[in-house]
Amino acid sequence: MRRILITNAKGGCGKSTLATNLASAYASKGYRTALFDYDEQLSSLRWLRQREKTNHPPIHGINASHNPAQNVTRSWLLRVPDNTERAIIDTPAGLKVADLLQQLQAVDDILVPVLPSPIDIQTTADFIRDLLLIGKVRERGIRLGIVANRVRINTLSFRALERFLKSLDIPVIARLRDTQNYTRAAEQGCGIQEIKSSSNKADILQWDALTDWIEAEATFQEQQKHA
Ligand SMILES: Nc1ncnc2c1ncn2[C@@H]1O[C@H](COP(=O)(O)OP(=O)(O)O)[C@@H](O)[C@H]1O
Ligand SMILES: [Mg+2]
Repeated sequence: MRRILITNAKGGCGKSTLATNLASAYASKGYRTALFDYDEQLSSLRWLRQREKTNHPPIHGINASHNPAQNVTRSWLLRVPDNTERAIIDTPAGLKVADLLQQLQAVDDILVPVLPSPIDIQTTADFIRDLLLIGKVRERGIRLGIVANRVRINTLSFRALERFLKSLDIPVIARLRDTQNYTRAAEQGCGIQEIKSSSNKADILQWDALTDWIEAEATFQEQQKHA
């Protein structure tokens, strides 16, 4: 099972959008997928309830919001069905890296969505610094990737973020455009790849870049296991 944590201290940057779309991307590719929701607002699980009324491939939802952030590692792993291949973990805003230390023992990848506004970028830069220094994600072998969300690529603040990430050698693995397709997909309990419309072609390409980045490593690890 590959475990992918979606997190950022900042609210509204697209954590749940990323979590639900990633879960549906995997489910529609045929992976057995689980979606954990640590946020009391439960937007990911609400989306899943909507999805259950459709014919889209199922996703196993887990309400993790009542667990204190500490001491969750064992219990959350126990709650995943045995044959799960991809687990996506949505988290609330306002978390500190110190709250995530238990989870960091059991994740493979961390995706940090960020909006291209100066205040979001500053908060995210601090959060990433904490992931490196307090979370020690590099020492743990966790891969860290940034997802630039609702981007207008040529803004000054976006270029400043790119410079910062480059100085830390952290990749921007995808850039998601600002589009009502996300709102539409959220309402329908599906992913942006699953909406029936030709208006999502550009979005599908952006999502392929994202899952390719995760899967490149998953394939590598699979090969190592069998080598
Ligand atoms: N790329 C995007 N284009 C358009 N709307 C978006 C995009 N990403 C997120 N949104 C919208 O922004 C709002 C906040 O996103 P959400 O994923 O709930 O953030 P978070 O979980 O980090 O608080 C939601 O209404 C969502 O539909
Ligand atoms: Mg959310």
